[in-house]
Amino acid sequence: MPVTEDRSVNAVARSGPSVIVLAAGKGTRMHSGLPKVLHEIGRRPLLHHVLATAEKLAPAEIIIVIGPGMEPVAQAAKAFAPGAKVVVQERQAGTGDAVRTALPALIAAAKDVLVLFGDTPLVRAETIEAMRKAGQNAAVTVLGFRPADPGAYGRLVTKPAGELLLLERIVEFADASPSEREIALCNSGIFLIERKHLSALLSELRSDNAKGEFYLTDIAGIARRKGLQTVAIEAGAEEVLGVNSRVDLAAAEAAFQRRARQAAMEEGATLIDPDSVFFSADTIIGRDVIVGPNVVFGRAVTIDDGATIEAFCHLEGAHIASGASVGPFARLRPGAKIGINAHIGNFVEIKKSSIEEGAKVNHLTYIGDARVGPKANIGAGTITCNYDGFAKHFTDIGARAFIGSNTALIAPVKIGDGAYIGSGSVIASDVEPDALAITRADFVEKPGWAARFRERHAARKNAKE
Ligand code: UD1
Ligand code: CA
Repeated sequence: MPVTEDRSVNAVARSGPSVIVLAAGKGTRMHSGLPKVLHEIGRRPLLHHVLATAEKLAPAEIIIVIGPGMEPVAQAAKAFAPGAKVVVQERQAGTGDAVRTALPALIAAAKDVLVLFGDTPLVRAETIEAMRKAGQNAAVTVLGFRPADPGAYGRLVTKPAGELLLLERIVEFADASPSEREIALCNSGIFLIERKHLSALLSELRSDNAKGEFYLTDIAGIARRKGLQTVAIEAGAEEVLGVNSRVDLAAAEAAFQRRARQAAMEEGATLIDPDSVFFSADTIIGRDVIVGPNVVFGRAVTIDDGATIEAFCHLEGAHIASGASVGPFARLRPGAKIGINAHIGNFVEIKKSSIEEGAKVNHLTYIGDARVGPKANIGAGTITCNYDGFAKHFTDIGARAFIGSNTALIAPVKIGDGAYIGSGSVIASDVEPDALAITRADFVEKPGWAARFRERHAARKNAKE
């Protein structure tokens, strides 16, 4: 399982709500050429985090509302959730208008419609399930939270009733009275609305407010006036953190990392210094894995049970099998496959290569486009010369082969099983199994030469002075 994902919740039946993800906002405060929801935390776009949460609810359908010209967002949505429908809100007339735009696309017979924001990436499926429970008999259920600084969030006007927190209405900050602004409980923007009431509630929205927009938040008060039950539940502030700026993005990244570290440890990995380990949303890490300080897991890394990652490693697109040990200071690039009990040592870079069971690549080495056979030993400073400036070529190193230090292997080249390469060689031809191959200039020794050389220079220097 990826450290942040548990797809087991409602995994099969599409018995969950219809989900609408609002993502039409321009995200002006990001100051970016990239649409806001395509910015990443845990190396995954914000939108994908939201869609991952939606998927866990076994949604009846997913509809994503984007703005005009946001084709990359539509593509990213389809890439993650191929069944999702994308609708375009021509003019950003408010969150209520955005949901209205999605109405014609809602066709499934789900009981509820869940509204998520594309820029609120950390909300958990468990929290949505809690909303569904609390709002069993409610037409509108809203997720609230108490931020340290309530700032410009909408405020929830509530009244406790036994177990439930009844919601009277929501006031947007811009429209709130001074006393309403004192309310600490804020609107996260996440709504669960009964399908059978949705169209009627939306049809009563007006834009006669401070922003001249159709606020989705107004449906709470409208539902109350109709005598429908409306309730609120509370989430932790970190979980509903919305990303509006790069500063918020960094805060969301930090929150994501805290959560990923926690999950990795709960699933049985030891993180010696959790705060200095960085995960991706798709990192898969087994039990009894030990991770040293300052390790970065880029995209698509899988670590099997009982592997060890020493301090200061950077891993991406790599698979590390049980009992293998990597680092300190190793870099694994996409396509690195480290076999059972293999060793990758310091200042070693591995790209698109498999290092088979029990093989050792311990020091200062580049292995690219290669196979290193079982129990082979690669000496310090070995380089696979895989690129000739035009194409990449393959190096095949057999089982138990011994590559002496400071060897250049000019690909394509094949080193047979059990072959021995003398240190300092440049190997441009295949080597047969169990042979010794060595390319070295002849050894020359001139006894006394160095002493005579020094004397001659010393004499010359003295003569000048
Ligand atoms: C909204 C809520 C506010 C809440 C806050 C939480 C409303 C009226 N206000 O305010 O109560 O405290 O979120 O973060 O709902 N969007 C569209 N189309 C639009 C407008 C917005 O798709 O026409 C999308 C945005 O892309 C974004 C989301 O809806 O994902 C929220 O919009 P935003 O303008 O950020 O709302 P806030 O002013 O933050
Ligand atoms: Ca917002």
